[in-house]
Amino acid sequence: MVQEPVSLWAQTTDVDYMRMEGRDAHPSYCWVTRKLMEIYGEKRVEILDCGVMSGTTFAKLKEAGLDFDYTGIDVGEPLVKSCRERFPEARWEQMNVLDLSFSGDSFDVVNCRHLLEHLPYYETAVREMFRVARRYVVVCFFQAPRDPEVLLRRDTAGGYIWLNRYSPGPFEHLLGELSSAFECVDIAHGRRVDRIYFCTKKP
Ligand SMILES: C[S@@+](CC[C@H](N)C(=O)[O-])C[C@H]1O[C@@H](n2cnc3c(N)ncnc32)[C@H](O)[C@@H]1O
Repeated sequence: MVQEPVSLWAQTTDVDYMRMEGRDAHPSYCWVTRKLMEIYGEKRVEILDCGVMSGTTFAKLKEAGLDFDYTGIDVGEPLVKSCRERFPEARWEQMNVLDLSFSGDSFDVVNCRHLLEHLPYYETAVREMFRVARRYVVVCFFQAPRDPEVLLRRDTAGGYIWLNRYSPGPFEHLLGELSSAFECVDIAHGRRVDRIYFCTKKP
């Protein structure tokens, strides 16, 4: 019998992958935290974070002293379980960003970091994140959009993984359709350049 291929992310138990890769030291985390501190100051903010892996984004926001109510989602059941054990003060749900089970306008800010590159494509996820956001959607890429677009699915012994680099034109066109404004910044850490899109949702 032929076995259906499965997503590597849905079953990985490698919760420390980002730290081992040195990716958790990237200043793109601080840029987003600083921006949220500037906007919200002492005001409490409700955040949805999509594709949480080891919960590093939650830990960084907490470290920075932001007053926030956090929900994190991920497709990986072992990852969600580990986040629940490490950070019981936050809410963690096993969920697919392509089909979020929240009503519209549920969170002040919806964040995703290093996630869209790992989806077959970005459009459904971006529309879902804007649907559940009240005010801001933040997207951080480790593969800054650049032409030509490359959609690459790699099959490994543990399952398949998408490693896409998107064309900026159609991506930014979609953001333009959903946002009243968006800021785009590139942040370097050695040879790793993260691109952040900080979007204000259209009222
Ligand atoms: C490269 S990690 C990034 C982790 C974290 N955001 C960070 O920056 O440290 C990508 C994460 O997205 C999750 N993921 C992949 N596809 C997903 C999907 N369709 N819905 C929700 N999470 C997904 C993976 O399980 C993994 O935890």
